[in-house]
Amino acid sequence: MDFKLTEEHLMIQKAARDFAQAELLPGVIERDEKQIFPTEQIKKMGELGFLGMMVDPKYGGSGLDTISYVLAMEEISKVDASASVVMSVNNSLVCWGLQTFGSEEQKEKYLSRLATGEIIGAFCLSEPEAGSDATSQRTTAIDMGDHYIVNGTKNWITNGSTADFYIVIAQTDVDKKHRGINALILEKTMPGFEIGPKEQKLGIRGSDTHSLMFTDVKVPKENRIGEDGFGFKFAMKTLAGGRIGIASQALGIASGAYELALKYSKERKAFGTEICNHQAIAFKLADMAVNIEAARHLCMKAAWDKDNHNNYDLSGAMAKLFASQVAMDTAVEAVQIHGGNGYVKEYHVERFMRDAKITQIYEGTSEIQKIVISRSIISQ
Ligand code: CAA
Ligand code: FAD
Repeated sequence: MDFKLTEEHLMIQKAARDFAQAELLPGVIERDEKQIFPTEQIKKMGELGFLGMMVDPKYGGSGLDTISYVLAMEEISKVDASASVVMSVNNSLVCWGLQTFGSEEQKEKYLSRLATGEIIGAFCLSEPEAGSDATSQRTTAIDMGDHYIVNGTKNWITNGSTADFYIVIAQTDVDKKHRGINALILEKTMPGFEIGPKEQKLGIRGSDTHSLMFTDVKVPKENRIGEDGFGFKFAMKTLAGGRIGIASQALGIASGAYELALKYSKERKAFGTEICNHQAIAFKLADMAVNIEAARHLCMKAAWDKDNHNNYDLSGAMAKLFASQVAMDTAVEAVQIHGGNGYVKEYHVERFMRDAKITQIYEGTSEIQKIVISRSIISQ
């Protein structure tokens, strides 16, 4: 067992850290306050290869492993979790799914543009009545021979208005239940494709979240990913890797909040000494450090499983469940350590606290991760 990062990993970590400090930190408070999408920053992330990190270089990607992806996700999320969710969706839910299960024609048409950030992708599974209960799809894709006709509504779609490329999960054959579901590629220029208003959110406010409405959208058969009826399995397999991305996002939020709290505790004085010298504060810092280290190990283990072609459903779910709890706990305590300053925007930690919450909700709530984990350990 080797816990040492390679030279290449260290370089990627540094590149992501430098980028986050130079390009994401300026303006992050304003983007959060006004719900501004980081358009220019995402463009630069694409140019630097952060939007298609695991995509084969022959399709314009960086050809890196999942460990590199975890490292970069942590660094970006330490500064701006709104930018990192765009990165996570594009890398793990869109590029990975397309590269792994898409046809050669689909890859040639879309993958290099997605991997370089020329276009951004979205992954559309959730619906008003199908969130955790994802097999209850109401969106329909009726088979018309050479095309599908898609009708329905998707909820909470990240990159909802900024994307050009949408993977939409829809029910073709109700009688076959989840085995009658398909994954289709839609483009927003298709007639009948409508984007709902932007959601007003608690956190990750720089990312754009929308509902999408489809009315008789005609989708060519060649836009189906995989065999007929593969759509639900496609979604589950894709989400298994997506959860490693969100676990790393949670890790980054936690470590960003912790670093600020540590620094502040060494500067702020109360009762004649720096507050880190009060054991109540020092013990909070110790708990944060241990939890973050444990979360990092779980993220790395899941990434290692993926890179070594082991099953990563269990390790990815464990990483997401634990890291998202650590993000929440750490951010709340970081606000506490900052006292009154923790409650105002310029100290950043209140944003981390608001951003942390989503990591326990999307890509499978914490309760859903416990379902995945318990089913897996019971069946072993
Ligand atoms: N890999 C491959 N196949 C899988 C699988 C996996 N990891 N997990 C389940 N399946 C297959 C099963 O084998 C089964 O197929 P067969 O019957 O052919 O064997 C089929 O899927 C149905 O499985 P279950 O019977 O286990 O289904 P279920 O109804 O009990 O639900 C669930 C399982 C894990 C709870 C699933 O519904 C789930 O993951 N729900 C959460 C949805 C979710 O994570 N949504 C995230 C949306 S994207 C997002 O949120 C993005 C973002 O924020 C940025
Ligand atoms: P519900 O499923 O209604 O759950 C409500 C509560 O009940 C939760 O606490 C849940 O854990 C619990 N619960 C449900 N079933 C069970 C059970 N069997 N056992 C125990 N507890 C249970 N979706 C996409 O497809 N693409 C995206 O890009 C995307 N981005 C998102 C971005 C944001 C900002 C948000 C808020 C959501 C996003 N989502 C996206 C949707 C997200 O994945 C869902 O919100 C999530 O899966 C939960 O579904 P739900 O909101 O319908 O909650």
